[in-house]
Amino acid sequence: MEVVIAPAGRLAVLAANAIEALLRRKPDAVLGLATGSSPLRVYDELARRHVEAGLSFAQARGFMLDEYVDLPTDHHERYRNVIEREIASRVEWAPEQVSGPDGGADDLPAACEAYERAIAAAGGVDLQLLGVGTDGHIGFNEPGSSLASRTRIKTLTHQTRADNARFFGGDVDLVPRHCVTQGLGTIMAARHLVLLATGKQKAEAVHQLVEGPVSAMWPASVMQLHPHATVLVDDAAASRL
Ligand code: GLP
Repeated sequence: MEVVIAPAGRLAVLAANAIEALLRRKPDAVLGLATGSSPLRVYDELARRHVEAGLSFAQARGFMLDEYVDLPTDHHERYRNVIEREIASRVEWAPEQVSGPDGGADDLPAACEAYERAIAAAGGVDLQLLGVGTDGHIGFNEPGSSLASRTRIKTLTHQTRADNARFFGGDVDLVPRHCVTQGLGTIMAARHLVLLATGKQKAEAVHQLVEGPVSAMWPASVMQLHPHATVLVDDAAASRL
């Protein structure tokens, strides 16, 4: 595992550099897309390079990590809409180039299985962007998630719902209770993992991720077993290393 400690702006440039190098080498690369605040600067940087430096996403595909269950299709915080707003529209990705787990499906288990098949059919994820929750989740794999899990329904912890309430006007009751998420086994199958974490509130999760025992109670710690994992953290998030 490679750990880089740098200011937040620099971390975004490093993540964008990795994605740009991949796209220049493999224009039809498959990118794993994360939501939350951590990747936003990376998406800004990619959008800037698309416009100013001709970085093309025309042949690339994106696969989202996770989605809330049963948010209305036009809801501002539905992850499909977040990804459309923050990255897809800005790099001229057509809707069919970006896929996500279907949190509105009548048969959620079948939709999860279909999503696994879609990732496999695309040849797997080349580079997966990740954030980490304060409780150590990646995607929405909350503590206790099987390290071998695949895309499935999960119940969000109160901690995660409280953390994400800021996206729902500060009202935790408006945050969905369930989600569909790629499993830890799905995430681990990506060829390169790039995780970003900033701020003191992530220090314990980063400590457990990098230095703790590999444990389902800190799901991000599974990344220690990945052959190509890059962890990009600022001083505050690195303060317990
Ligand atoms: C959210 C998302 C994760 C994200 C994490 C951290 O709940 N499901 O994919 O990485 O929590 O979010 P943030 O980057 O806003 O701290």
